[in-house]
Amino acid sequence: MTPTLTISQATSDADFAAAADLIDSRDDNHHPLDRAALAKARLLLLAWLDDTPVGCGAIKAGEGEVAELGYLVVASGYRRLGIGARLTQARIDWASAQGIKLLWATVRAENQASRENLLKAGWQFYGDYLSIRGTGNTIGWYVLPLMQGLDIQALMAGPIGNRTPVIQGSGEPD
Ligand SMILES: CC(C)(COP(=O)(O)OP(=O)(O)OC[C@H]1O[C@@H](n2cnc3c(N)ncnc32)[C@H](O)[C@@H]1OP(=O)(O)O)[C@@H](O)C(=O)NCCC(=O)NCCS
Repeated sequence: MTPTLTISQATSDADFAAAADLIDSRDDNHHPLDRAALAKARLLLLAWLDDTPVGCGAIKAGEGEVAELGYLVVASGYRRLGIGARLTQARIDWASAQGIKLLWATVRAENQASRENLLKAGWQFYGDYLSIRGTGNTIGWYVLPLMQGLDIQALMAGPIGNRTPVIQGSGEPD
C-alpha cells in the first residue's frame, strides 16, 4: 500500500524529541540545536509517512504580528517529494489563521534547496546580511507578507537589528 503523508502539530514530548532528532540529523554545517528554544516554538509541525517522522518545520518562539519560520528539515531519504513544500505551506496557513502579518526566514547563501523552497512558495528576497555569529557567512533574509500594504522595512527593523548588509558587487574591481 502507498504510505500516507500527514502533517500534524507536535504536542507530546515524543513529538518534540522526534523533531529534535530530525534537526540534529541535518547534513549541512549548522550550529547545535537549542532544544529549550525548540520547545518554545509557536508552532512545531511534523510530517509523518505512516508512523515514521520524515520532516519537521516550525514557527519560532516569539509573539506579535511578525514571526520567523525555522527548523525545516526533511530526512535525507525523503527529499524532493514535496514534503518540505507541504511543511512550509502548512506553517503559512497557520500563521495567516493566527493573524500574523509578516513571516521571515533566513537561509545560508549556499543552501539552494531551502532558498528555492521559499521562492517557490511565493517568498521575496529581502537582503543579504553578514551572520551575527561573526563567522563571515552571508545569510539571505526572505519575507512573506500575509496581507497587503505592509511597511515591510519597518516591520523587519527589529529582526534585522544592526546586522551588516552584504552589498553585491561591492568588492574590488577585477
Ligand atoms: C530544504 C529541504 C527542507 C527541502 O525539503 P524537500 O522535501 O526536499 O523539498 P520539496 O520536495 O518540497 O521541494 C520544494 C521545492 O524546493 C526546491 N528544492 C528542494 N530541494 C532542492 C534542491 N536540492 N535543489 C534545488 N531546489 C530544491 C524545488 O523548487 C522544489 O520544487 P520541485 O521539486 O518541484 O522542483 C531539504 O532539502 C532539507 O531538509 N535540507 C537540509 C536542512 C535544511 O537546509 N533546512 C533549511 C534550513 S534554512
